[in-house]
Amino acid sequence: MTETRAPKPDLEWLPAALDAAEAAPDAVALRARDHALLRLVAGATVIDVGCGTGRAVADLGRLGARALGVDLDAGMLAAARARHPGIAVCSADATALPLADGEARGYRADKVFHTLPEPLAALTEARRVLAPGGRIVLVGQDWDTMVIDSDRPALTRRIVHARADTIPQPRSARAYRNLLLDTGFHEVSLEVHTLIFTEATTRPLLDGHATAAHEAGAITATEAEEWMREQAIRATTGRLLIAVPMFLASATR
Ligand SMILES: C[S@@+](CC[C@H](N)C(=O)[O-])C[C@H]1O[C@@H](n2cnc3c(N)ncnc32)[C@H](O)[C@@H]1O
Repeated sequence: MTETRAPKPDLEWLPAALDAAEAAPDAVALRARDHALLRLVAGATVIDVGCGTGRAVADLGRLGARALGVDLDAGMLAAARARHPGIAVCSADATALPLADGEARGYRADKVFHTLPEPLAALTEARRVLAPGGRIVLVGQDWDTMVIDSDRPALTRRIVHARADTIPQPRSARAYRNLLLDTGFHEVSLEVHTLIFTEATTRPLLDGHATAAHEAGAITATEAEEWMREQAIRATTGRLLIAVPMFLASATR
């Protein structure tokens, strides 16, 4: 089999992938559930950690909260400000939030904890900024447990697992409950909501998987290209199917 070069990943794939994720039919219901679990109090401070392009910060503001988004990525913060003029966002790390002790009534982090080298340090910081009785909501996918339909299931399994291995904390979502308990939160509960993706707009996510698996040495460039080609055909014929179990954990400070 001739080796060819797999395409380099597009550095701007993340906002497109996030937009695709938010376009899933059940994503709106998932966000509504996550906001309900925050038990918002009008005018009270809610922090969205790893706010990305700012959608939740804008939503929480519309729901009456004093919403603040923080993110480490300048490009994400610029996109958030451009998409939602007037929202409050700033640069900060999940382990050093720009809030005083007990200043927040709500804390959320959506698809963020898998990127953190020290999730416990971030939860300790969450506990510091939350007032007693304040609510925390964590949302995210388990990267080992992503269902992707393909004519090549064994190759797909290798791709999914290899992609997961490139993530700092690929199984952080299944650990949310224990992490919250270990950090001293109360009323800890866990739900799983499966998001289904069938739209062609999900292809950046799939291409990212194949490219990452190739770069990790788990599959050849030819396998990456063939797999992406199959997914491209599925996309143009309406036959894409991705199912992502989203873990939704909530607790009280
Ligand atoms: C997958 S995106 C999710 C964005 C957004 N929460 C959403 O659901 O659309 C993860 C975000 O977390 C941010 N992030 C990663 N590590 C962070 C850290 N240590 N502190 C703050 N933000 C972080 C990234 O820059 C990125 O914008």
